[in-house]
Amino acid sequence: MVRAAAGGRLAPRRARRTTARCRPPWPGDLVQKAPEEPDRTVMAMPREPESSRIRRVIEKFEIRGQRTYTPVMTVFDRSAGIFHYTPEGRRLYDFASGVLVANLGHNPRNWLKRLMDYLGWRQVLQDDTAAYVPVVPLTAYNGATELEALASERLIQTVRAQPGGARAQKIIWAASGSEAVQKALWAALAYRPARTFIWATRDGFHGKKGLAEAVTGNEESPNRDPRVRFISFPKEECIDVTVRNSGQFDPTPYERELEQLWQECDGKVACLITEPYLGAAGSFHPPAAYLQLLDRFCKEHDIVFILDEIQSCFCRTGPMFAFERYGVEPDIVLLGKAMANGVPVSVAVGRADVLDTLDYGEASDTFSGNPLACAAVLATLDCYEASGVVAHVGGLEPIMEEGLCRLKELPFVQHVRGEGMVWGVETCAHGGRDAHEMACEIIRACYAGNEEGTGIHLIGPLAKRVLRVSPPLVIGKDEAAQALELMFELCSRLV
Ligand SMILES: Cc1ncc(COP(=O)(O)O)c(C=O)c1O
Repeated sequence: MVRAAAGGRLAPRRARRTTARCRPPWPGDLVQKAPEEPDRTVMAMPREPESSRIRRVIEKFEIRGQRTYTPVMTVFDRSAGIFHYTPEGRRLYDFASGVLVANLGHNPRNWLKRLMDYLGWRQVLQDDTAAYVPVVPLTAYNGATELEALASERLIQTVRAQPGGARAQKIIWAASGSEAVQKALWAALAYRPARTFIWATRDGFHGKKGLAEAVTGNEESPNRDPRVRFISFPKEECIDVTVRNSGQFDPTPYERELEQLWQECDGKVACLITEPYLGAAGSFHPPAAYLQLLDRFCKEHDIVFILDEIQSCFCRTGPMFAFERYGVEPDIVLLGKAMANGVPVSVAVGRADVLDTLDYGEASDTFSGNPLACAAVLATLDCYEASGVVAHVGGLEPIMEEGLCRLKELPFVQHVRGEGMVWGVETCAHGGRDAHEMACEIIRACYAGNEEGTGIHLIGPLAKRVLRVSPPLVIGKDEAAQALELMFELCSRLV
């Protein structure tokens, strides 16, 4: 149900100019949920007739559970590069990239051309006469296409070409990140059938389905699988970007924990799965020595080391893959999200002896490795090779760090964490509002934007209180500085 103006509606702080089409809404326009209501209402905004109409239709026909909570459900009319445009014509800097997907920006012309060329669409669509056009099929179930062969080869070569990627020999295609996780875990369990335990890092996120859910969260989460045991992941040691690089990290307690758990599991540990950094748990980016400890321990004990780079791959942390930055060599690396710049696809890439344990049908499904996905992967790889994304992200990182750390001048911003182009801004209580409410206020204020209507699109907070800041990697340095300045200005209004 879309709630009409409920209790707690704020008055606009000062009169503002209106435009004929749409005056930019501001935080005071947002319809607030009644205090006794749980955080479940979709936002209607009075001066967004078209956006609100679309929100209402969605709310009428789709279940809420399909989305994660956000205090502002942005309606995207069109998007180009680093900007989204609302149906009312407002421009929003994209600070989410979908959810770390549109690394090359939205709808890049070169990428679209490459995609259509791979599919053979560009030429044939100019001729309107034939009802059917002779191009690669969109489904190749139980068969193969050259696109799939090319994409498999290119992906493996790309992983192998990076320091730490030497173990990439074979690939398993999947249609979503959770499926890639599931298939990698199946393979690792099949590889050493006598080893039944899976280790996962506590509070990690690997997806919501099947085994991906089983290795997500911690001992208290629902649907626990007795095969999964959790190990600690540093948080305090990387609570803020200023302490992360202090060089004070002591891996000894973590090493002790691994030794003890190894004894408890009687050495029957098939694999260990972790993320390079805890993303969904609130952007905790560990000291490299921690991941290197896991890598070393796995190698010494013949445990399959699975690094879930579904979120971090394709330059999100700077280099093409985070394993380069952290100096580790996983047995299996999981890729997803940005690898096709928006087309849904995911893969597990890794050791042939492990992945080859899955026999006919054991990792098959309708859409994995479909030609559209493979064409999108190839187009994305082409664009990365043709552009200096890696160097560009390296140049953006200090701008992001400086601009976001400036937010700590505000009384409701406590910590900033991140690397490359993936950052988390942790809020704290302020002015009678708890940290979650403050995070939601910031999202609303950024969405509402400035007097010209320019705003910032942020997704709902991670772990209730951490704002994810992850613009497309193609944002210019000046644009990044301007967008961060705008964020500071909009957040300052909440003091
Ligand atoms: C690290 C990581 N692994 C796995 C997943 C699951 O991917 P999907 O949502 O495509 O199933 C996600 C999604 O956010 C993720 O961030």
